[in-house]
Amino acid sequence: MKKSSVSRRSFMGGTAAALGYMGLNPRVDVSAKEFSLDEFRRSSQEFDFDSYARLSSNENAWAPSEAVLDAVTASFKYANRYGDPGEDINAAIAERDGVDRNMVMTTPGSGALLRVVGTTFLGPNKKVVGVEPTYSSVYRHASGLKADVIALALNADATQNIQAMIDTTRKNYRDVGLVYLVNPNNPTGISVDSSDVQKLLDGIPDDVPVLIDEAYHHFVQNPNYETAIPHVLEGRPVIVARTFSKIYGMAAIRLGYGIASPEMIEKMRPHQTGNVSVLARWGGVAALKDRASEETFLKDTLDLRNKTMGELQGMGHRILPSDTNFFFVYTGRPVAELQEAFRKKGVLVGRPFPPMLDYLRVSIGTAEEMARFMVAWKEIMPAVAADSL
Ligand SMILES: Cc1ncc(COP(=O)(O)O)c(C=O)c1O
Repeated sequence: MKKSSVSRRSFMGGTAAALGYMGLNPRVDVSAKEFSLDEFRRSSQEFDFDSYARLSSNENAWAPSEAVLDAVTASFKYANRYGDPGEDINAAIAERDGVDRNMVMTTPGSGALLRVVGTTFLGPNKKVVGVEPTYSSVYRHASGLKADVIALALNADATQNIQAMIDTTRKNYRDVGLVYLVNPNNPTGISVDSSDVQKLLDGIPDDVPVLIDEAYHHFVQNPNYETAIPHVLEGRPVIVARTFSKIYGMAAIRLGYGIASPEMIEKMRPHQTGNVSVLARWGGVAALKDRASEETFLKDTLDLRNKTMGELQGMGHRILPSDTNFFFVYTGRPVAELQEAFRKKGVLVGRPFPPMLDYLRVSIGTAEEMARFMVAWKEIMPAVAADSL
């Protein structure tokens, strides 16, 4: 990756300022989606949904666990009611994360929590400060709210530029509604050390809300990483977002949550839309209790990730260090083309993430899916292997 000075760019209602980063074409990613429903419908009409190796959306390829399935099945008894006699998912999360119950907001997936936070703290003339590429749904939502997106370039090593986030937030202090930090970042997979999170919080005015998205928290092995929940407890206006879609394999059941001070939760509550279903609540409580399955999913994911990355690295390919259930590999080719080439071979891989348009994001699937990925990779990529050595 070419060294690049940090450039601050702001986007107004989806209009991009020019970008000169890594010699690639500038393009703002406010319209891109993690996956396109139209595309999905088209492809599932053309092919059998289950025939694909699905390495495109960072899901858990095996789960939910038996315990979650049993709990979800039992919850069906109350599927026709607005209420049910248990499970208190907010209490279970509070206990697991060491916070009070009134510091937890559950939502149908953490994507919904990100939107509640956006609606609460952004609006016309407000700004969200973050990096690019990152999980862009917050930016899309901000653009819809007529807020400005200031998406900063990553450092040359693809880490997040904390100093630029501080400088930009200070410079725009009055207008910054939210700072957004995805840790570990998606799509790079790189985690931010706790000292850098501390530096960010120390460097910005202490009343600026900071949304720290820990969707991939459970996969992190970096010993210098820590959850940002202690910052919530020490009284900073930090919201930590988590999801049950990844390690717990409940992506379609939809359960996510935020941890924040009771005051912030109360401020966010009027903007909450949609309830968490009985299936999600009962399944979520079971998932939190089932530590053995959580450990197995983690181990299997990391083993397969390290094996696949090792094979690719052995062939000379460059891959960013990953603390997640996916990795981001340099291909030297436009990923949009590669995505289609892999799809034709029955393997779904990540979409392009501007401006890193020649890096491919690959989610970790089952051993069988990863084997199919490697076969497809060797068929599609041999010409590229030589020039990335
Ligand atoms: C960083 C990040 N945040 C949030 C989400 C949203 O996940 P969900 O709405 O399924 O909880 C995702 C999904 O891929 C993600 O990668």
